[in-house]
Amino acid sequence: MNPIKGVVFDLYGTLYDVHSVASLCSQFYPGRGLEISMLWRQKQLEYTWLRSLMGSYAPFEQVTDDALGFIGKQLKLNLTSGTHEALCNEYLQIKPYPEVPAALAKLRAQGLPLAILSNGSRHSIRSVVNHSGLEPQFDYLLSVDDVQVFKPHNAAYELAEKRMGIARDDLLFVSSNAWDASGAHHFGFTVCWVNRTSNTFDELGQRPDHVIAGLDELPALVGGASA
Ligand code: 2OP
Repeated sequence: MNPIKGVVFDLYGTLYDVHSVASLCSQFYPGRGLEISMLWRQKQLEYTWLRSLMGSYAPFEQVTDDALGFIGKQLKLNLTSGTHEALCNEYLQIKPYPEVPAALAKLRAQGLPLAILSNGSRHSIRSVVNHSGLEPQFDYLLSVDDVQVFKPHNAAYELAEKRMGIARDDLLFVSSNAWDASGAHHFGFTVCWVNRTSNTFDELGQRPDHVIAGLDELPALVGGASA
């Protein structure tokens, strides 16, 4: 295996917990927070994949907003425009997983370039990362806005290789999303799948090179495999 010369993170679900919106969902719809946030996330992902296939890119905030509109109708939530707006704003302020700040600080000390490559728009990524105070930990915040197609399209992954100037197989791509880890491996990255909740890996003809249960395991993995 090649030595690791840089680390590229997925954002939603990997560094930041998309289900941190569940508590605001519960305030509006008591007892239904997680149900709403899970369906919302699923529909949001579907819309990114469908839009890529249709060749009809829209920024992630728009896709997130549309997905909420759909599930509001599907679940008969009677979403007012104020509630809709409050929930979408919450998505711009989701929280990092608890182990993430310390893991990033350790990786930073190891001296490798660190990047986020996300389906989020430039605005979404910057909002989430700024809100958590973690922006100084990253050398690159890369948005698929620049290629107008979502991961797992190869053009999205290629952004990291081009911007960082590091060959794909020298980059470690880290994602909790099995579909994303599969796409990244298919593209040619070395891949670490973060499996926090004993999920099943997707059957897309790909396998991750490494599997960890949380980002706290990453500094040791990178330390043992960097150039
Ligand atoms: C990302 O951050 C949507 O999790 C996906 O790109």
